[in-house]
Amino acid sequence: MPSILITGANRGIGLGLCRECLSQGWTVHATCRQPEKSRHLLALQHDKKYTSQLSVYPLDVRNSEQLESLQAALGNSPIDVLVNNAGVHAKKASQFGHCDEDTWEEAVAVNLLAPMKMMECFVDNVADSKMKIIANLSSKMGSMTDNNSGGSYAYRATKAALNAVTVSAAHDLKYRDIIVMVLHPGWVRTDMGGPQGELSVEQASTMLLKLIQRASMSDSGKFLDIDGTEIPW
Ligand SMILES: NC(=O)c1ccc[n+]([C@@H]2O[C@H](COP(=O)([O-])OP(=O)(O)OC[C@H]3O[C@@H](n4cnc5c(N)ncnc54)[C@H](OP(=O)(O)O)[C@@H]3O)[C@@H](O)[C@H]2O)c1
Repeated sequence: MPSILITGANRGIGLGLCRECLSQGWTVHATCRQPEKSRHLLALQHDKKYTSQLSVYPLDVRNSEQLESLQAALGNSPIDVLVNNAGVHAKKASQFGHCDEDTWEEAVAVNLLAPMKMMECFVDNVADSKMKIIANLSSKMGSMTDNNSGGSYAYRATKAALNAVTVSAAHDLKYRDIIVMVLHPGWVRTDMGGPQGELSVEQASTMLLKLIQRASMSDSGKFLDIDGTEIPW
């Protein structure tokens, strides 16, 4: 069965993807900031059905030492799918006139630098797998064309930059047959998406995994919506 490495797997879409992959028999490497406090992941680990499929690792995606430890722990294990899911909405840097530097720095570190470093750290594991897929969770809010309302400065900018990074990686890793995509998960009812979101975590996770499973080299470098349609940059 395939294996998946997911960041920010303790809640929201990351947790939903873990559940979906586990239910389909995948090997799941879940990372989160505080495994000991991640009650949903702990419950899954204690569920006899999943004990052998699920490993949980501590990873604040801004922490280089934890990233090195994760690399050491995973060694040469093939990783079919790397999902850079961890993200911050950077609300304090949303409005014009409120350029909060700390918030910007966190947004750049989490939404942009971390996926870049994760790709660099685990590219060999992905290359050694069967599916060879890197999926970076971006957002329609990173689309210039779709920006009809302004605001969300740090979130939009870091997701747009993640899109740019993904396209470069898609070109650079093509010779290794690695598919690198940016995916918009839909508007999902999570802490970030809020209660008005159009999709439940379960719906979004099921659709995301389907999208990932049917990805081919022709999708590499693309910005795809949850239904598989292309989003304009
Ligand atoms: N929900 C939506 O409607 C929507 C729409 C478009 C795109 N997205 C994207 O989808 C992804 C997941 O979103 P979500 O809605 O599930 O968000 P969420 O419910 O707010 O969850 C965010 C996840 O990211 C983790 N995270 C934040 N900073 C981190 C750090 N420094 N190190 C490690 N993990 C960190 C959080 O961990 P903690 O619990 O430790 O904070 C949490 O697990 C994000 O990249 C988001 O931009 C979501």
